[in-house]
Amino acid sequence: MLRRPRRNRKSPAIRSLIQETRLTPENFVAPFLITEGSGINEPICGIDDIAKKSVDIILKDIEYLHSESVQAIALFPCIHPEQKDEQGSNALDEDGLVPRAIRQIKAEFPSLCVFADVALDPYTTHGHDGLIDENGCVINDASVRVLAQQALVLAAAGVDVVAPSDMMDGRVGAIRGMLDQNQFTDVSICAYTAKYTSAFYGPYRDALGSHPQIGDKKTYQLNPANRREALIETQLDLGEGADMLLVKPALSYLDVIAAMRGSAPVPICAFHVTGEYAMIMAAANSGILDADAALYEVTLSIKRAGADIVFTYGAKRLIEILKTDTAQRRAVALV
Ligand code: PBG
Repeated sequence: MLRRPRRNRKSPAIRSLIQETRLTPENFVAPFLITEGSGINEPICGIDDIAKKSVDIILKDIEYLHSESVQAIALFPCIHPEQKDEQGSNALDEDGLVPRAIRQIKAEFPSLCVFADVALDPYTTHGHDGLIDENGCVINDASVRVLAQQALVLAAAGVDVVAPSDMMDGRVGAIRGMLDQNQFTDVSICAYTAKYTSAFYGPYRDALGSHPQIGDKKTYQLNPANRREALIETQLDLGEGADMLLVKPALSYLDVIAAMRGSAPVPICAFHVTGEYAMIMAAANSGILDADAALYEVTLSIKRAGADIVFTYGAKRLIEILKTDTAQRRAVALV
């Protein structure tokens, strides 16, 4: 045999030498579910890494993550039911939970890159990402106008990147226009280009109380059966000026990540969402999987598929895995 591929796997040294993909904390974005108050740290589904936290607690987490080379975080608000209404008007409050958090975080960590979501679902009583008409249909253009306003509020608070996750048509262009007209030409847009209708958002919606009260999100989020549609969204978002594109969820959509990587020259992000993360941890808690090895393998696979940036609730855990060389080897060995 001229080719014995096992020669390239014969020792930890050679395996490490030829490893094509590596996880690096610099490419993680750590998502945080923020809530009002102080000292609050409430795990969702009993999983510590997915928790509602008050800003004081988040600041401590950020201190650790940033000191370990994590460059970015993403904020998601848990809005009190009394502050929600049909229009999601709290999303436009300059003193709302997210703008206040952005100011506090940027004041303490000016070198950190802060992402904030643009969508109305945390703020609306009906749980949809946009405005609805009397029949419960999500109205596109009126929603886009509000979303652009929301982006402006986030920009004024000092956010680095706005991330529209609402899947309305034309919102990237409208947000770019609004930001530019108001001198926020340096605020970036990370477009949720391929956001699928997914069962894996369950724990997030439980935490936010944002399960749709009328209908579902199938008229705006993508059908899990479709890949080509993600490429139409890719062309549109690029044309409208998106700086980065995002695929969500991640693990069931590795082919979409790869296709978008191949068709767009901008950075591609992938979001390993709450349900995907919870699935690993639940299996680990039942003694079925090794949490560290499974998380390492899944995150590595997301990157191998073509994601430059991975949004992961496991940033802290992954840093610890990467630090323990033996744990990393063990994880690799289990694959
Ligand atoms: C919607 C939004 C969702 C998530 C973040 N923003 C999904 C949804 O409810 O449709 C899910 C994040 C996660 O599960 O980690 N704007």
